[in-house]
Amino acid sequence: MSTAAITTAKEVFDLLRDDLVAIEREFERLSTSDVDSITEIAGYLREGGGKRIRPALLLLAAKALGYTGNSSIRLGAVVEMVHTATLVHDDIIDLADIRRGRPSANTQWGNSKCVLAGDWMYMQAFRVALEERNFRVLDLLINLTQQMVEGEMLQMERLGRAVTEQEYYELIYRKTACLFRVSMQLGCVLGRASQQMEELLGDYGRNLGLAFQIVDDVLDLTASDEILGKPTASDLREGKATLAVVHSLQHGTVEERADILAVIEDQSFTRVSHERILAILQRNGSLDYAMQVAYGHAEAARKNLSILPDSEFKRALLWVPDFVVAREK
Ligand code: IPE
Ligand code: IPE
Ligand code: MG
Ligand code: MG
Repeated sequence: MSTAAITTAKEVFDLLRDDLVAIEREFERLSTSDVDSITEIAGYLREGGGKRIRPALLLLAAKALGYTGNSSIRLGAVVEMVHTATLVHDDIIDLADIRRGRPSANTQWGNSKCVLAGDWMYMQAFRVALEERNFRVLDLLINLTQQMVEGEMLQMERLGRAVTEQEYYELIYRKTACLFRVSMQLGCVLGRASQQMEELLGDYGRNLGLAFQIVDDVLDLTASDEILGKPTASDLREGKATLAVVHSLQHGTVEERADILAVIEDQSFTRVSHERILAILQRNGSLDYAMQVAYGHAEAARKNLSILPDSEFKRALLWVPDFVVAREK
């Protein structure tokens, strides 16, 4: 077997192409209700695209462990549906009007219908998971969903004020990294991994997810709206202090700290401009600091794979952390 590294998204996509197509078909089949507005909203959410990184992780974990059955298609659709349900609720909570480069569902159908569509999608995901007749699968998914809801709740309660670095990591674990972890763990359940293997691959997912959210938060501060497909600087406008901002709050001057707090408390750039905040972050090396932390988690994720036997799937998993820290959207 060749030991050449996988170096491009296309190679990974080619490796998973048939399965990702099957997951897409499954997601489509599962997004139909007797009630037309549910089908319409679910269809709109599914067609919005998205990177499909969570089902890809589940597939890679299962395949790296030698799994060849069809449950990975169904569970791949399940994790993407759980992700989709959290996004539709998140956009309502964050008052976001753009998602994946187009109007978010809440702007098209209103908050009330979108809350219900999100609830429906959660339950549809659980219905499919139930068909596996495997309590471990349900246990992982129920714990996951509660963690994500708790993460969103904790974040909401911390809006408009400074958080500690520790609080930030706890938040992003719950709201993002936990789903990456569970995607890997579900692949492990299918691949009948040992407990030690599941812990390590789960930790890979956790590290990868932390890196993913830290980069997402840096992009929110530095990217352009067009590339990102969602409005930038939205975290500060929502009163959300992310890692680079937390770093400048800790290391900046008294004036810098006051300026940052003014934006977070106002949840707007009326008293202090976005440019001023970026200058503060630059001067304190805070964006670099956040990226260094992300690189650290990406490296830790790669190390978590050391016990996995070599295969093209392992090589793809080794590549994903590079993709996550280098991405522009
Ligand atoms: C968005 O996740 C929510 C976060 C955890 C930051 P993705 O960036 O994976 O969203 P899509 O599915 O590719 O649009
Ligand atoms: C991530 O939160 C969404 C969830 C994991 C529920 P954010 O609010 O930071 O993500 P975006 O920026 O809207 O994608
Ligand atoms: Mg949001
Ligand atoms: Mg949010």
